[in-house]
Amino acid sequence: MCGIIGYIGSRQATPLLIGGLRKLEYRGYDSAGVSVFNDGMSRVVRCRGKLGNLEEKLKAEPAPGTVGIGHTRWATHGRPSDENSHPHKVGPVSVIHNGIIENHLQLRSELVASGSQFSSETDTEIFAHLVERQLVDGAPDLTTAVRRALLKVRGSYAFVVMSDKEPGTLVAAKNSSPLVVGLGEGENFVASDVTAILSETRKVIFIEEGELVTVTRDSVQITDFEGKPKQREPKIITWSAVQAEKGGFKHFMLKEIHEQPRAVADTLVGRVDLEGDDVRLDGVELDVKNIKRIIFIACGTSYHASMVGEFLVESLARIPVEVDLASEFRYRDPIVGPGDLVVAVSQSGETLDTMEAIREAKKKGATVLAISNVVESSIPRLADHAFYTHAGPEIGVASTKAFTTQLIGIALLAIYLGRRTNALSRERARTLLAELVQIPNKMRDVVEQGAHLQVLARRYGNATGFLFLGRGAQYPIALEGALKLKEISYIHAEGYAAGEMKHGPIALIDDQLPVVVLVPKGPSYEKTVSNLAEVRARQGKVLAIATRGDNEIGGHSDDVVLVPDTALELQPMLTVLPLQMLSYYVADQKGTDVDQPRNLAKSVTVE
Ligand code: G6P
Repeated sequence: MCGIIGYIGSRQATPLLIGGLRKLEYRGYDSAGVSVFNDGMSRVVRCRGKLGNLEEKLKAEPAPGTVGIGHTRWATHGRPSDENSHPHKVGPVSVIHNGIIENHLQLRSELVASGSQFSSETDTEIFAHLVERQLVDGAPDLTTAVRRALLKVRGSYAFVVMSDKEPGTLVAAKNSSPLVVGLGEGENFVASDVTAILSETRKVIFIEEGELVTVTRDSVQITDFEGKPKQREPKIITWSAVQAEKGGFKHFMLKEIHEQPRAVADTLVGRVDLEGDDVRLDGVELDVKNIKRIIFIACGTSYHASMVGEFLVESLARIPVEVDLASEFRYRDPIVGPGDLVVAVSQSGETLDTMEAIREAKKKGATVLAISNVVESSIPRLADHAFYTHAGPEIGVASTKAFTTQLIGIALLAIYLGRRTNALSRERARTLLAELVQIPNKMRDVVEQGAHLQVLARRYGNATGFLFLGRGAQYPIALEGALKLKEISYIHAEGYAAGEMKHGPIALIDDQLPVVVLVPKGPSYEKTVSNLAEVRARQGKVLAIATRGDNEIGGHSDDVVLVPDTALELQPMLTVLPLQMLSYYVADQKGTDVDQPRNLAKSVTVE
């Protein structure tokens, strides 16, 4: 998500900070800033927009000094603006942060009640206040103040903190978001990614979960959050700068496939209310009793997420749902108006067709809710309500983590609606939410099956066509699997509802056609197994995606990939992962340009 860098040494910090942030630019960001210590006080210079804007601002307000922190922000809480840019400074304390503070609402109201004044909408500023309070309340040093402040915070984060009272120290802490220390001679660095510091040093220490690190010019001390010292030998990074951008993965797409457990956990942070058996949609309040119908509109992969949405919302909230391609909806003179909730799903928030479809729906009196990955992009701004996925910037053109986080966003919406229409009992909501918070771990289990998927890619990757089959919520996953394969390997693939196979695609089946069948345990399991038998009776090759513990499926298929069991409604979040990986490895084996496939664009802002 955001980019983090800190420097402490004898060189001028600002050019090093800007240089480091520039290396992180490829990840996307909406604002940037630095805080640099000089002459008894740190100066914060920050602004909305690109690093070029910050550099211009620094010309007018130079920030000399040899200790500093810098940040590029990808907005999550609070729109992109000068005030919401990092660093946040409260008293002597400057803070930069990557991640999300889950209990930010509660902490903020406690701080306000006891007299703190906020100058931004961010969750990060809370942490600056908490550290400052600890210093006022007598914490002996910055490290202790940060440690005590961390005890109050829940969520995912990498923080770097600096204090005017202790200018020779940077203190950083990590929980879930990446953090690395770079070692130099008489100087040290902290960063969210090695890319940011690789031109300055290749000797690094990776900070691990639940660790706090105190960095001076000449020392690095790691402890856990209780203060118990930890020892770690530095590593020498041999990656090239380009490899480092990809976190050591061969392509951004593979990196993003592996980031999904993280991205999904971030999208759940602060939204699941396990005590209340409910969800929070970041303050979005819908007039649910007056919603007669829901219409999802989207394009591409977001359309497939919306199709899963139809299944989820109808089954959990019992509100009728339609799903439409934005490019069709806008030209059909659609019957839409008051009483309709239009849910526009868009990773980029900039897709022109989706935007125009929203305009059409609003003109006719519908209420529009946007689900997007980019805060303050055009689509959420146009909508009446917006709710964000927290996938972080997605660079590979073929969408992976944006898709699974959309599924999470849509599942949260369905539970929210279901609780308010009373179609979803408290008990069922409790079970589903408990399952939902397990999804990141279960995803991890699947993305670790890379070696197996690589073997399967070699076995099937020379085929000239593929068929993907699924029923219910697995039908859109079949479409998504076919889309992924087409997009990056240029192999023709069709996704089909398994029950429709006999009405056409069965004619394609011969011993050359791999058929990927999504057959997790559930009410349509047996029917899908029959479809699979029909494929095999015609010599088709079957690759089944099934539930772990299914001992039968091996007897009906040529190959099987097993995913952990979960609630029926959440299965698509797991079954899509092997399809993304299969496509990736097939494309990699063919040597196509995986991250920038021919003729495709990440964001389509034309008709
Ligand atoms: C393009 C991208 C797809 C994406 C679609 C919709 O075609 O290549 O990956 O699914 O646009 O984009 P959106 O940003 O609206 O989700």
